[in-house]
Amino acid sequence: MNICIVGTGYVGLVSAACFAEMGNAVTCVDINPDVIERLKKGEVHIYEPGLEAMVRRNFQEGRLTFTTDLAEGLKDSLFVFCCVGTPEGEDGTADLRYVHQVARDVGRQMNDYKIIVDKSTVPVGTADSVRATVQEELDKRGLNIEFDVVSNPEFLKEGDAVNDFLKPDRVVVGTDNVRTAELLKSLYAPYARSREKMIIMGVRSAEMTKYAANCMLATKISFINEIANICEKVGADVRDVRHGIGADHRIGYQFIYPGVGYGGSCFPKDVKALIGTAQGVGYEPQLLNAVDEVNDRQKTVIARKIETYFAEQGGVKGKTLALWGLAFKANTDDMREAPSLELIRHLTDLGMRVRAFDPVAGPNARRILQDNPLVEICEDQYETLNGAEALAVVTEWNQFRNPEFARIKAALAAPILFDGRNLYSPALLAAEGFAYFCVGR
Ligand code: UDX
Repeated sequence: MNICIVGTGYVGLVSAACFAEMGNAVTCVDINPDVIERLKKGEVHIYEPGLEAMVRRNFQEGRLTFTTDLAEGLKDSLFVFCCVGTPEGEDGTADLRYVHQVARDVGRQMNDYKIIVDKSTVPVGTADSVRATVQEELDKRGLNIEFDVVSNPEFLKEGDAVNDFLKPDRVVVGTDNVRTAELLKSLYAPYARSREKMIIMGVRSAEMTKYAANCMLATKISFINEIANICEKVGADVRDVRHGIGADHRIGYQFIYPGVGYGGSCFPKDVKALIGTAQGVGYEPQLLNAVDEVNDRQKTVIARKIETYFAEQGGVKGKTLALWGLAFKANTDDMREAPSLELIRHLTDLGMRVRAFDPVAGPNARRILQDNPLVEICEDQYETLNGAEALAVVTEWNQFRNPEFARIKAALAAPILFDGRNLYSPALLAAEGFAYFCVGR
């Protein structure tokens, strides 16, 4: 099948490569000429395991092409996937500027039947407004061309996106048009191999499904973070509690790891957007408000522990913290809404210096933090320790899981470790002679 993908970010490029992988002819369109030029050279501008090799192979074999010209992408395509960003707008709701620009451009340039697929996370009702925008442009041209607008939300996790696309838990398609549903079923047949994985529903329900899924997951995280905070106060160990509750199959073990709060491009934005949507229709979503508030507080949990620890030693001002991990989670270079940024802001506002390292997010972090003179991004995890009074770990990269504790101890002014991801055993750290602080234990 011929597919046009508009937007070459995490969602667009992963979808494009994975569609091409199954033999489809895919044209990627992006307004950023630098990105397109780099892609034509086989360079992928985002870090996503397995993606670069897949992009290169499909590009070399001619199934994947890149252009800044939407008309070229539309020419032979039946499907037009809208994968552009929907950043958080000023009032907390999703900013649909880019989605509507794509709709407008498609309406201006399409010349035959198209299935326009919204893959970007968009509020309920967006498919209707996209349809209206496309129709408006067709009317201006005096053309009567048939088209359909479908919601096909994306559930990819960064860091594992290629796998998620190739082996999805489910593929949700929102459309009232039976023929369109059949075409999407064929397109996704190589991925959603069993029948139950393909879930067809109304457009608004599909749009709502994406928000409900992300808000449910965010709720699980805020829930376990709240339990962790209570565990600390009452002398319980949240690791044992997680084990104890996860054994109940109605609860399950997944997505109840306490830590430094959720970050990334989806959860913070989507929770706020659904709050905005609900309020817009006169409903105050008390649970979602709490999920959001608990998360904001959790992002400073380690900073507050550090502040408390150093309070008796004249405060953190003038002291130096070694920081391992900057990305919002492991296996990504993404710094969007990363808890590390909140921690750095909190501590440098108090005058603490931070020497930080991340296996891949270093360059992105350097760009974001370049105006903060108290922050230095190091090239090696052990280099951060030179001249530091304590070490904090906030991203669960594998290379931090089994470090050389003797080396850390020798390099730090005193052996103090703050662990925002519960990576280490308190007993082991005590045996190694560390003052050790983690979450919920
Ligand atoms: C998420 C959803 O998982 C995905 O389905 C959706 O399409 C996009 O948003 P992503 O943002 O890539 O994907 O990351 P995810 O792995 O889900 O983690 C989100 C955040 O939650 C991270 O900051 C992570 O560290 C945190 N988290 C996750 C926890 O704190 N505890 C957990 O148990 C799980």
